[in-house]
Amino acid sequence: MSDAAVEAAFGLRHRAAPRPDAPGLFLALAPMDGVTDWVYRDLLTSLADDQSGISLCVSEFVRVTRDRVQPHVLRRICPELDRGGRTRAGVPVFVQLLGGEPEPMAGSAALAAELGAPGIDINFGCPAKTVNNHDGGATILKTPCRIESIVGAVRRAVPASVPVTVKIRLGWDGSDRLAEIAAAAEAGGAEWLTIHARTRLQLYRPPVAWDALAKARLAVRMPVVANGDLCTEADLRRCAEQSGCHAFMIGRGAMGRPWLFRQARGLPEPDYEPVRFSALLGEYAARLLLHGAGERAALGRLKQWLRLGAPAFAEIDALFQAIKVLPSLPQALARLQLRPEDTQPPPAPGRRPRRESSSPAVDRASAPAP
Ligand SMILES: Cc1cc2nc3c(=O)[nH]c(=O)nc-3n(C[C@H](O)[C@H](O)[C@H](O)COP(=O)(O)O)c2cc1C
Repeated sequence: MSDAAVEAAFGLRHRAAPRPDAPGLFLALAPMDGVTDWVYRDLLTSLADDQSGISLCVSEFVRVTRDRVQPHVLRRICPELDRGGRTRAGVPVFVQLLGGEPEPMAGSAALAAELGAPGIDINFGCPAKTVNNHDGGATILKTPCRIESIVGAVRRAVPASVPVTVKIRLGWDGSDRLAEIAAAAEAGGAEWLTIHARTRLQLYRPPVAWDALAKARLAVRMPVVANGDLCTEADLRRCAEQSGCHAFMIGRGAMGRPWLFRQARGLPEPDYEPVRFSALLGEYAARLLLHGAGERAALGRLKQWLRLGAPAFAEIDALFQAIKVLPSLPQALARLQLRPEDTQPPPAPGRRPRRESSSPAVDRASAPAP
């Protein structure tokens, strides 16, 4: 679809995605597989009348193996492609690809760009054993020359107007090769680099090493986006001091403080308000049901949100402890002091929400249909 057609169809001003080196604060919403599905992205970016403070979203990863991925896979993981690659609030969503073979990665990126992706992000940070054992994610950090060739192939496959970005960790088991890894991403043509300031071997264990990001910054000209344990405004300030970074990506911190992106911009936002937080979770459940998720899947997603948000506030932790053992969505909503009707908006025209699901798992399989 041409830019003009996108604009006409969606009323969007089709413009380049925000960049971390542009004036102003760059705050990206981190991709989290099984958590930040399109419903969550849509909800978060629509906060405060679409003034959420989020600059950019990245989709959950799309696994690329031997062949180019199919269009329906890209559309399932990133349904925003069908509306110009943006959430309804107009925030761009980059499609994230994960794989170790340059050719299918390039083909998949080209397809994503053709379908309307405003940018392609490449995942070299995933620590999952199954992924790493099949030559994907953080395992590629062990051979920086492969980073250059994968990024290079993707860069050549998509139009120059579509940024190619890279997300990494500090390294596999240390940060000794971070400068080399960052330089390889830049040599391949990455426009910016997001670094989760932990190694693969650390998984999600402390400490997060924001100071190590300075090494990467010195090795490259492209902007470096800091990521890892940025949960409060104070964290953002300390990270900026230690890393020298002025662009940030926030993942789990947003589960406890969905309004952090606004707070970081100096917009007045109270820290934790039980009624508002519960209403947001209720709205999330409502949207999941509306878009076809079953009650058990929606319950699983609520528990996941609370689990990740629990470290932020004792009140959220208490909610999580109480709700994690509850077997049904109505019970969970009651504990949140929400009435069932709070989560049952009228069905969209031509769509009937399913009320029961056979899939209890909180994983991508339970993600709502677009
Ligand atoms: C449940 C979960 C799923 C994740 N999935 C992805 C993913 O699909 N792609 C990716 O690049 N990072 C993924 N990450 C890593 C996050 O994007 C981020 O780098 C990490 O959580 C550290 O940032 P945070 O402390 O702000 O959460 C995931 C993290 C979690 C907790």
